[in-house]
Amino acid sequence: MNWVKVLPQSELTPDARKVVTVGQRKILLLQHGGQVYAMDNGCPHLKLPLKGGKIQDGALVCPFHRSAFDLKTGNVKAWSTFPPLVGSLLGAISTEKPLTVYPVRMEGGSIAVGVED
Ligand code: FES
Repeated sequence: MNWVKVLPQSELTPDARKVVTVGQRKILLLQHGGQVYAMDNGCPHLKLPLKGGKIQDGALVCPFHRSAFDLKTGNVKAWSTFPPLVGSLLGAISTEKPLTVYPVRMEGGSIAVGVED
């Protein structure tokens, strides 16, 4: 695993969301409960950006069809539930899959994300 410094720690305020590029990946950084999390910015459902998603019960909820992904594991907690009826049809377009999450650590005042080659 490679650890890549992606952002000065001071730039990720508690309410901020930042998207950084690491190789081909667009990685979303956010803080919740004093913890920094890193995950793919593309929703596993239809690859739309998760940056504007709300956090509910420890999960990031996609702002489009409200799939929900555990912040720590990326596991699916809900899959394409919105809008009613149409959401479940849209959910069938793409099979349920987890969100890729990345380990995070602080290195000399910077946020570093662990990525596989
Ligand atoms: S794009 Fe995220 S739930 Fe559809």
